[in-house]
Amino acid sequence: MQSDIEAILREGEAAIAAASSTDDLVQVETELFGKRSALSGAHRALGALEADQRIAAGRRLHEVRGALEAQVADRHDALAATERAELLVADRLDLSEVIPNLVRSPLSRGHLHLVSQARDELEDVFVGMGFEVAEGPEAESDWYNFEALNMPPAHPARGMYDTMYLDIGEPETVLLRTHTSPVQIHLMEEAVRNDTLPIHAVMPGKCYRLDTPDARHLPVFNQIEGLVVDRDVTFGDLAGTIQTFTTAYFGEGMQSRLRPAYFPFTEPSAEFEITCAICRGAGCRTCSNVGWVELGGCGMVDPAVFAAVGIDSDVWSGFAFGFGIDRLALMRHEIPDLRSFMENDIRFLSQF
Ligand code: DAH
Repeated sequence: MQSDIEAILREGEAAIAAASSTDDLVQVETELFGKRSALSGAHRALGALEADQRIAAGRRLHEVRGALEAQVADRHDALAATERAELLVADRLDLSEVIPNLVRSPLSRGHLHLVSQARDELEDVFVGMGFEVAEGPEAESDWYNFEALNMPPAHPARGMYDTMYLDIGEPETVLLRTHTSPVQIHLMEEAVRNDTLPIHAVMPGKCYRLDTPDARHLPVFNQIEGLVVDRDVTFGDLAGTIQTFTTAYFGEGMQSRLRPAYFPFTEPSAEFEITCAICRGAGCRTCSNVGWVELGGCGMVDPAVFAAVGIDSDVWSGFAFGFGIDRLALMRHEIPDLRSFMENDIRFLSQF
C-alpha cells in the first residue's frame, strides 16, 4: 500500500509537469482526482487494512492529495500567465506603425473617396449644364421604388432587381432602394404640390441589391439619376444631353450612342453606351473588343409615370436617365475590380 501511494505521487507530479496548456491541465486533474483515479482507488482500499495501518496510509494519502492539489494550482498559474502573454502578443495593435511612402508628412490629411470625387465631378458637370442636384431617401416604400415607376406587383421587370426588404410593416412593403429612379417620383410629387414645374435635376445616391460582390458588382453601389420635365422635350434633347455630358466628363473624342432597350418607366427606352475609355474605341478586354461600354439606361418618361404623380402628359413631357457612378470611376481609372472601392485599403485609396 505504502509503495502504491508513493507511485501515485510520482506519477501525478510527472503528469502535472507535462501538462502544456490550461486545457491539458483540466484533463490531468480529472485523471488525478476523479472517481476512477488511482487516488480514489487507494482511498477505497483503506477499508480492508488493519486499524493502525489504515491510519498511517490514510494520513499519507491525505498529504499526497494536498501536495498534488497544490502543484496543480501552481502549474495552472504558470500556464495561464504564459497563455495570456501569448494572447497579448497575438492581439497586439501597433498604433505607431508607419507604412513607408504612404504617409507623406506627419500632417498629411485624408481626402474624399474616389467614388465621392466622381460624384462631385458629375454634379459639377450637370450643374454646368443647368441641372439642379437633389436627393431622396435610401429606405423606400414599394410604391416609390416600383409601383409609381409603372411596375405594379408581379410585374416581370421587378425580376431585374434583387431587392433587400426591411422588416418594417407588412412583409415586402419597405425596402432599400434598388435604383435612384424613385427620387424622380419624389421630385415630381413635390413639383406638383408646390406648382414648381418644370424640373431639371440630377439625383446621386446609394442603391442596394442582393448581389454577391464580384469584380463588376457590389451589393451597395452608387447611381446618378437625371430627370427633365418640361414642355416639348424630345428624344433629341435626351441624346444631346448624354453626348454633352460624355465629352464634359471624359474629354473630347469620347462618343455616346443609344441602343433600343426596355424599362417600364420610360417609352421609348434606350441603353446608352460610351466609347471605351481604356482603348478609346479600338477594342480591348474591358469592352469585350467592341470599343463601347454600357453605362446606363434612359428614355422618355412613360405617361403612366406622369399619371401616377398627377402630371398632365398632354402638357408636359420629359426624359430620364440613370447610370452607375462606381463603374464610371472604375473605367476612368482603369481599376480592374469594383471590390477595391469597399475594402478600405489605404494603399489603394491614397492613389486617387
Ligand atoms: N433605374 C434603372 C436601373 O437601375 C436605370 C434607368 C433606366 C434609369 C432608364 C432611368 C431610365 O432614369 O430612364 O436599372
